[in-house]
Order: sequence, then C-alpha cells, then structure tokens
Amino acid sequence: MTTQTTGEIAGAARLDERYVREWLGGATTARLVEYDPRADTYLLPAEHAVCLTRAAGPDNLARLLGFLPQLALVEDQVDEAFRHGGGVPYSSYPRFQEVMAEESGEVVDASLVDTTLPLVEGMTERLALGVDAADVGCGRGHAVNVLGRTYPRSNFTGYDFSEEAVAFARGEADAMGLDNVRFELRDVAELGVEESFDFVTAFDCVHDQARPAQVLTGIHRALRPGGRFLMVDIKASSRLHENLDLPWGTFLYTVSLMHCMTVSLALGGDGLGTVWGEQKALAMLADAGFDETEVKGIDTDPFNNYYVCAKF
Ligand SMILES: C[S@@+](CC[C@H](N)C(=O)[O-])C[C@H]1O[C@@H](n2cnc3c(N)ncnc32)[C@H](O)[C@@H]1O
Repeated sequence: MTTQTTGEIAGAARLDERYVREWLGGATTARLVEYDPRADTYLLPAEHAVCLTRAAGPDNLARLLGFLPQLALVEDQVDEAFRHGGGVPYSSYPRFQEVMAEESGEVVDASLVDTTLPLVEGMTERLALGVDAADVGCGRGHAVNVLGRTYPRSNFTGYDFSEEAVAFARGEADAMGLDNVRFELRDVAELGVEESFDFVTAFDCVHDQARPAQVLTGIHRALRPGGRFLMVDIKASSRLHENLDLPWGTFLYTVSLMHCMTVSLALGGDGLGTVWGEQKALAMLADAGFDETEVKGIDTDPFNNYYVCAKF
C-alpha cells in the first residue's frame, strides 16, 4: 500500500477529486484511513483493505453493508407497516438480487466446494459419482453453477421465484457451458417433487420464507431415502436474551425488520425473521420429518449455522 494524494487516488479510481477528498475526511476520522497532514496524503493499511475492498476476498465487510442502501429505500414503507401491519414486497428492493449475489458469490467461490460440502459426510464422493441435487431459493444461482462445473456427473436444479434471478442464473450456466444444470421459476413452498433428489441445499433463504414449514416439508418429501439436506442459516439463539453478546445482533434484527421479516409478511407469511435462531430451526426441521440434524460451523463464517439433516 502506498500513500497518495487525493488527486492520485481520484485519478486511479476515475472519480471526482472533490468527492473523493470529502469521503476520505470521513474515512480518516473513522480511523479507516491514515492521513499525513504534512504531505497531505492518505494511506489505507493492508489490514483495513482486507475488510473494505472488492479485491480482498470473503473478509470484505463492505459487501455485506451494501444491503444498507437497499434498506434505506424502503424506510417509508416499513414506517407504514409499523402503523398498519403488512409488509414490503421484494419488488421494492430493485438491486436486492445483485447485492445478494455479490455477497454470497464471494463466499461460494472461496469455500463452497473445499470447506462447506465436506461438512456433509460422504457427499463430495457421492457428487463425484453422480447424484441429483437441488438448491432452493437459489437467487442468481452461482452456487448451483459452481457445483455443476465441479461435479459433471451430477445433475443440479436451482429453484427461485425471482424471474430476474433465474434469468441471470441461466445466463451464467450458458456462459459456463454447463449441460448438467437447470433453473426453474418456482415457489418453493409448492415444490411438488417426490423422492427425486439425493441432496438439497438452502443458502440463507429459509428464514425469509412466507411459509417456511411447507418449504421444509417439501424439501423432505423431495429427498430420496438416504438423502441429505444442508441448510445454511443465521447463527443465533431463538431466545432474545441469549443474543445480547452477539456483536452483530442489532444489524441482524435491523436487516430482518427492513427486509427478511417484512418480505415474508408482505406475502401474508409467517414473518419468521432473520434471528429465528437455532432452537426454532431444529424444532421445525424435526417437524418437517428429518430423522437427524447435526449443527455444524465453519471458523471463517461466524454468521451462519450449517444444519446437516438426514432422511433415513
Ligand atoms: C436471501 S436470498 C438468498 C439467495 C441465494 N441462496 C444466495 O445465497 O445468494 C433468498 C432467496 O430466496 C428466494 N425466495 C424467497 N421466497 C421464495 C419462494 N417462496 N420460492 C422461491 N424462491 C423464494 C428469493 O427470491 C431470494 O432469491
């Protein structure tokens, strides 16, 4: 990292110098950037860059905070919902799928194949031999496409009810030349599939559902005996007082209020919320019919639990 003037920084970023200088004022007083008053230059220390820049990989917190401008867009609608109930529909968040895919795509690239999949005992071997797998609430489908590329003998289906997301997912699959991957526009509460898959995944999407119990029951029904379901969802307690020490607890409840809970309520749904928690998740997985669920974790992902669920 080199120390630079505002003109040099603005030139490298192709941005307006006056705006860059004002932004650097805030970044300096936040202690993110170091300012040298004698040389009038700025430095972004390498250890800060890791958490703040796109090139830095999955530790980039800026990507996660990209949700905040989306939340700000619906402030008036949430205010209205506080007074009269109801919710804010997905259509009110124009860049939601894009922001979501940028955030989750980085994690998929960094850890899905090498770190996440091995949590499901024996699944990497089964995928290499050839199985049928599905991802519910797949969004823009990067996880499905990466799995399709990694395991050419297996077949993958991604389900989502967002037309924009499914179109993007299909485009990426075409660009990657994949013929073992397909995407279906479907309400996953009406999956309507019987014993067709050996492996189903759900990344960060069950707590958003309008009808989460039906989704989980449908996933259980869609699995063949011996199949596995990997549900990745927020790591928290279902008991509020046990979340007092969760450093990002307030962030999670805010995202829930202004997105996850309210999109569910907008569909007349349960409004489970982002912080539904482990106890509630385990109870719902058992109610859906899963015979055994193990709760696992990954050191590099303090935000999520990895529920490995078995259908015997
Ligand atoms: C938080 S995003 C996660 C997307 C993706 N799994 C990822 O990690 O990037 C939740 C996704 O669930 C989808 N979704 C929510 N309710 C759904 C439903 N009932 N049927 C199908 N998709 C649904 C949304 O469109 C959205 O793409």
